[in-house]
Parts: sequence; C-alpha cells; structure tokens
Amino acid sequence: MTTRLVTSALPYANGPIHLGHMVEHVQTDVYVRYLRAIGDDVTWICAADAHGTPIEVNAGKAGIAPADFAEKYRQDQRQTFQRFGIEHDTYYTTHSPENRAWAYLIYDALKARGLIYRKSVEQLYCEHDRRFLPDRFVKGTCPKCGTPDQYGDVCERCGTTYDPRELKDPACALCQRPPVVRASDHAYVNLRKPEVAAIIRGWVEAEGHLEPAVRQQVQGWLADLQDWCITRDAPYFGFPVNDPDFPGKFLYVWLDAPIGYLSSGEHYFAEEAPAARRLSPAAYRARYLAEGAPARLEHVIGKDILRFHAVFWPAMLWAAGIKRPDRMVVHGHLTVNGEKMSKSRGTFINASTYLDSGLDPELLRYFFAASLGAGVSDLDLSLEEFRNRINADLANNVANLASRVAALVERSGGVIEPSREIVGGAAAGIQAATLTALSAARDRYQELQLREVVRQVAEVASLCNKRIQDGKPWEAPTSEASRALLWDVGKALVAIAVMLQPVMPRFAAKLAEAFGEPPPRWDASLDPFHGPLRVTGKPPQIARLDAAQVDKLIAAPAEGAAKASARPVAPAKVARSSSPAEGAARASAKAAAPATFGVIQYEDFAKVELRVGAVRAAAKVEKADKLLRLSVDVGEPEPRTIVAGIAQAYPDPSLLVGKRIVVVANLAPRTLRGITSQGMLLAAGEPPDLQLVTVGDSIAPGTRVK
Ligand code: MSP
Ligand code: ZN
Repeated sequence: MTTRLVTSALPYANGPIHLGHMVEHVQTDVYVRYLRAIGDDVTWICAADAHGTPIEVNAGKAGIAPADFAEKYRQDQRQTFQRFGIEHDTYYTTHSPENRAWAYLIYDALKARGLIYRKSVEQLYCEHDRRFLPDRFVKGTCPKCGTPDQYGDVCERCGTTYDPRELKDPACALCQRPPVVRASDHAYVNLRKPEVAAIIRGWVEAEGHLEPAVRQQVQGWLADLQDWCITRDAPYFGFPVNDPDFPGKFLYVWLDAPIGYLSSGEHYFAEEAPAARRLSPAAYRARYLAEGAPARLEHVIGKDILRFHAVFWPAMLWAAGIKRPDRMVVHGHLTVNGEKMSKSRGTFINASTYLDSGLDPELLRYFFAASLGAGVSDLDLSLEEFRNRINADLANNVANLASRVAALVERSGGVIEPSREIVGGAAAGIQAATLTALSAARDRYQELQLREVVRQVAEVASLCNKRIQDGKPWEAPTSEASRALLWDVGKALVAIAVMLQPVMPRFAAKLAEAFGEPPPRWDASLDPFHGPLRVTGKPPQIARLDAAQVDKLIAAPAEGAAKASARPVAPAKVARSSSPAEGAARASAKAAAPATFGVIQYEDFAKVELRVGAVRAAAKVEKADKLLRLSVDVGEPEPRTIVAGIAQAYPDPSLLVGKRIVVVANLAPRTLRGITSQGMLLAAGEPPDLQLVTVGDSIAPGTRVK
C-alpha cells in the first residue's frame, strides 16, 4: 500500500468551472479512484486560487472586496465539482492563514539561502488606472505581423511572443488609454545560480517525474534558464511581502499558488479529515512533506502551467527543505468541435451548462477518459463524436449486452453454475481475453493511459457480443452450450464493471450488482471466472443520445432560427462539394426526416451557414496530390484553415489568392493529413474541370449566402 498526496491545479477563483477544468478533475478523479481501488491511501488536495490582478480588478468592477469575490467563486466551484461526482478531500483557498504562513516560510528560506536579489524592471504603466499592467492587460498591434488587438505577450495570429513594450499602439485594456513605461524595483529568485539550477535539472531528469516528451520540453527551458520575479506592485490582491527590503510589494500569485497545495493539505489534516486521519501540522509535515517522507507527492496539471511547476516549484521546495514531487502528470487542452473554447462562438461550455442540460456526468467522464492518453496532446469534444461514442461504446456495446445477457439468464432460471466444459466453442476465448484485458487495464491506469483502459473494455464487450451473435443463446437458453456462454459473458461483464469503476463509478456499481457482485474492486487475485452467475436485478441502461440533446451544450448563435422561420420557402439551391470534408457534411445533415423523400424544409437549408470567404493564401498539402490548404477570411478575427480536394483543378494555387468563394462555415472541423479543416468550399464539376463557386469583389468576406 502506498500513501499519496495527489493534487489538481487550483482553479482561479475568477469564474465558474468550465469543461476545460473538468478534463483535469476527471483525469485526477479517475486516477484517485483507481489508486483507492487497488488499496492505496490517497489524499486528494485542491483549492481555489484566490490571488492576482484579474481577481482584484473583477472584484473592483463588482464592487466587492477581492477576498469575498474569490470566496463566492470558491463555493460555486466546489458545488459544481460535487455535482459531477468529483470528490476532492478538500477544496480550500490560497487566501488562508495557513497559506500565508507557508508562503512566508518559503520566501524566508529563499532569502536565507541568499537567493533573493533586487532588480529594477521597466513595465507598462497606466497613469489613468494608476497601475502596472500585466501582459494580458495590454492590447496593441503585433510588432511582427501587424495584426491589431493582440495581448501584450503573444500574437494570436502569428504566434510571436514579445515584451508588451514592443507592441505598436499599446493601450490599457481597462481604459483604452496609451500606457507609459515606468521602472519599479522587484525581488528576483536567482534560479541560475549553479547549485539551484542543478537541483532543478536533477529533478527534471530523474526517472518517473515527467513523461519523456514533457521532460524534453522542460529541458529546453532549462537550457535558457531565467531568474524569476516574485513580487508585484500595488494595487494587487495577494500577500504583502514580509521583508523590509521590499516595502509595499506583494508576493506574485504564482509564488503562493503552488504553496497552496501544501497549506491546503495542512488545513485538511488538521481540521477537516475524519478523526482517524487527523494529523498535527508537524506530523503532516513529517509524513508527507519532509525530505525522504514516506508518502508520494503527485501533481496533475495542464500543459499551460508546466513551467511554474517543473522549473520554479522544485527550487522553492528544495530551498525550504521540502521533498520534490514524485510525479507530475501533464495533460493537453480541451477544444470544442475542433477549436479553442470561445465565448463568442458559444463553445465555451461551463460545467453547470452540462449539468443543466440533463446529461449524465458519467457520460462526460467516459468521453474524457476515452480521449486521454498519457501525453500532452489536446483533446477535442466534438459533439458528434461524443454522441457516437456514447451510443456505440456504452449504450450498444456494453449496456445492451448486459441487458440481453441478464434477460437470458433469467429465462434460464436466474442462476448459472460454472461449467467446466466448453461446449460448441461458442464461448471460446472470452475468459482468456478478459483476464488479459484486466491485467492490461491495471497497467494502463497506472500509466494514465485512460483511453487504452477504455479500449480494453470495448474489446471484451465486442468479443462477448460477437460470441452471443454466433452462439444464439436465445434459441435454447437452457441448453448446456447457452448456459456456458452466458456464464462466461456474465462474468466478463463483472470484469468490465471492475475496469470501468474509476471512470463511471455509479454505472459500474450497478452493473456489478445486477450480476450479484459487490461493488467492483481490484485485488491481486482478481479472477471473476468462478462461482455461480446470479442475476439479481436489472443492469443499468444508457439511453441513446440524440443530436438535439447534445447540441444544447453549445449556446445558440446570435442570428439564425427566428429569422429563418419568418422567411418564405427559398427556391431550391444546388450545392456540389468536392471537398474531402463532404462525408462529414452528409453524416451531420440528417436531423428531422422530411415528409417527402428528397425534399427538405427551409429550416433544414437554413442550418447550413454559407458565407463569402476571401482566399488569403493557398498551397499544396505535402504528399497529398489532391489537397490544397487554404487560408480563408470569412469575416472573423482570424482566417480559417480549409483543406479541399481541388489541387488537380488548380495546379497553380496562387491563382486562387484574392478570390471570393463560398464556404460552409458551420461544418464540424475535420482533420485531414494532420491539418484541421475548419470548413468546406462549394464547387461545381469534376477535377480537372472543377471550379470553385465565386462571387464578385464587392461582397465583403463574412457575408451570409442565402
Ligand atoms: N490558478 C492557476 C493554477 C495554479 S496551480 C498551483 C491556473 N488556474 S486556471 O483556472 O486557469 O486553470 C486550472 C487548470 O485547468 C490548469 O491545469 C489548466 O491547464 C486547466 N485548464 C484550463 N483550461 C483548460 C482546457 N481548455 N483544457 C484542459 N485543461 C485546462 O492556471
Ligand atoms: Zn488604463
């Protein structure tokens, strides 16, 4: 049995929990449930991250004190997690007395080691708002590509990173006035000092701390290690620096945020844990945090906050004599329908929106698990894919199988004793395949290859379905062959419950219960293939999802339905597509069946959002002789990337640049040759005699075609 302190990143107390956060908390929850199921002693710590400029500014706008503002969101976040079955042992706050004490302790330790020095820094300052502007509070024109309205740290169009002072025409994001450059003294941590750099490098390079690909990325940062500025000027919401050398300064939120892991753990063990688990701060420290402490310290974080955790954090811990993390799990980001979640597109989905739509939280847990590997690749919530996976993998492959088998066992008397004979070969291979899957799933959980766990489940279920299909036990449910087959499949379903339990705890418990088994649990000798198979209840059902249910997750676009129904029926329009995305268009264009075959209602047509696009760039896709990659301005802040199968019709793609074409703008994105295509083009004819549908130059990009 291993004792562990597991953490998830502390969400900013600056808004509600969204589905991006949920990826992390589902991943951690599944991991923690798995560890508990194999018998480990796990404490899962989380908290709201209460400090920083955005919270201070937003509290000001709301007219309340920052501490109250943060507390309100902390409560809201905690409730949302609970409704999702996400059960942190504690959900505390970084704005706590414990965290203040810990932050000072670590600051003092850095200072005592001579690692803190003063440096004057030039930053943008707004004289109207009387504050220094963090990068995200400055907007201006990208110095590299000239795109207006970019943040002070990175251009979203060309990807260049820069210092906010390099922006052209910078403006304060609060008052739109031009800022000035002003200098201020700050505290820096000397990370470049050889003994500190060696500590960080030693931690990064040690086996088991980071996945190899992640380690490589961090090593890149180490090659260019910079000292770290840990103070901020007022106004700020954070802990005042407790050092006469830096009067009036505050500790930077990223100094005290990870310290929040330690202090929230202390609070939990001192005040919240069940009596038998209570520990004094000293005992907690000895058991969990001291160098060489017996417990493991494991963090789960998103890739965007890796530098803080893998470079700065080990150095801070070391300075204070605290053990470094034993494992850091880093996940990628969630996109929705192939794009970054965006409020303006309606794809920024709050966790409460999901809950309010009536969808079972366990379905999302399953989908995230099915999408998560051990690496940092992003994962996409394509609504269509979500629906398909739930319907195919869960409703059909697992839940239906369970119902059919339970019904057949009941027809056969409700109990089947194990049979040694393999009759007729119908059950062939189920036991061996299930045992292999169980042992593989266990290893995959350990590695956090959750999608591989899900695949093991699907394989066992598919095999069982196939054997049932071939063995036709419904023809003679009481025959020896049928009973042997049903026994095997029933026991395999119990194994499926064990494998799925960390991902879908409620579903798994009901599944095991229906086949007469206690709540699923892994143990070293786990072999479900013994004892009688007893059907004691109805297995849990998974209702098939329809598109309307899932579409509720995305906020309705501003224009659309109302306008469409007020119009007369439009004359028929014929659109031909040559794009490889055509299949996807067909697949998603079913919806309500028309009264007459082949005739659609205007509402059906109005669902297709056709827009004029101006081609900004066009080039061949490497190693694909039919595909062109286009950059098309459809009147949005950024041009869309569209991949189309028109290369043979346009041997010189540059001739397309400047053309006004027609784009299907609301088609779910598709990935072709590793490129995400964000739309489809209209064209007529067959290559090489194919032409894109075009309109004249006087029609602006983004204009709706109807
Ligand atoms: N407060 C800091 C973390 C401090 S930890 C000592 C912070 N907060 S956050 O609310 O912005 O993000 C919290 C976690 O959610 C991070 O691990 C972040 O990567 C994760 N995610 C936020 N948006 C996400 C997606 N769209 N997809 C997946 N995870 C994402 O950063
Ligand atoms: Zn301003």
